[in-house]
Amino acid sequence: MIKFDVITIFPEMFKSYMGESLIARAIEKKFIKINLHNLRKWTTDNHQTVDDRPFGGGLGMVLKVDPIYKAVKQVNKDKKAKIILFTPRGQKFDQTMAYKLAKENQIIFICGRYEGVDERVAEKIADMEVSIGDYDLMGGELPAMVVIETISRLVPGVIGKKQLLEERISKSGGFLEYAQYTRPEIYEPQKGKKWKVPAVLLSGDHKKIDEWKRSHGKVIEKD
Ligand code: ADE
Repeated sequence: MIKFDVITIFPEMFKSYMGESLIARAIEKKFIKINLHNLRKWTTDNHQTVDDRPFGGGLGMVLKVDPIYKAVKQVNKDKKAKIILFTPRGQKFDQTMAYKLAKENQIIFICGRYEGVDERVAEKIADMEVSIGDYDLMGGELPAMVVIETISRLVPGVIGKKQLLEERISKSGGFLEYAQYTRPEIYEPQKGKKWKVPAVLLSGDHKKIDEWKRSHGKVIEKD
């Protein structure tokens, strides 16, 4: 079982996601656990303020270090978790990183919001900064869902049949993602238009089919 702890000011954003079929099943079968923590719980003022103006000026607000420090301290009681801060400046998330993270027992995600997060969170609290791509989102909640889903798929049992995954592991240990078709063999969206399935897939020649899958696929490498 891998445990994900998400520190966010929008825990509600995760509710429908966690109710979705495969993730919901993974939680129910105890392959994964997702704990949501509202950052405002660790504020001390009446307004539950989590942000403040940046020193040196600048537009927008910055998430304060104190509530994040207290949240992580409480969530990471046994001090064994990997602590990830989402930021567009972070190391780019990919399948290789997912394989590595899938070996952890507990991962804590700190979801940034507003114009940024006090840099001391990256310097002193997080083990790594992660970006899911070179674009600027409104916060780390979607990145957390992307990373949780990618890692969860790698946990044995989460995706239905085990052979299904094994069949798609390449010789080097990467994951083979290839083009696929299902019935009908010939689809006629309009008169005169015929969209056909490649003949080799209907041939029954498993060697040829395998070659075709490899030449029409992409291996997402493990390392
Ligand atoms: N926060 C805002 N944009 C982000 C991104 N692309 N990746 C991770 N965290 C982010």
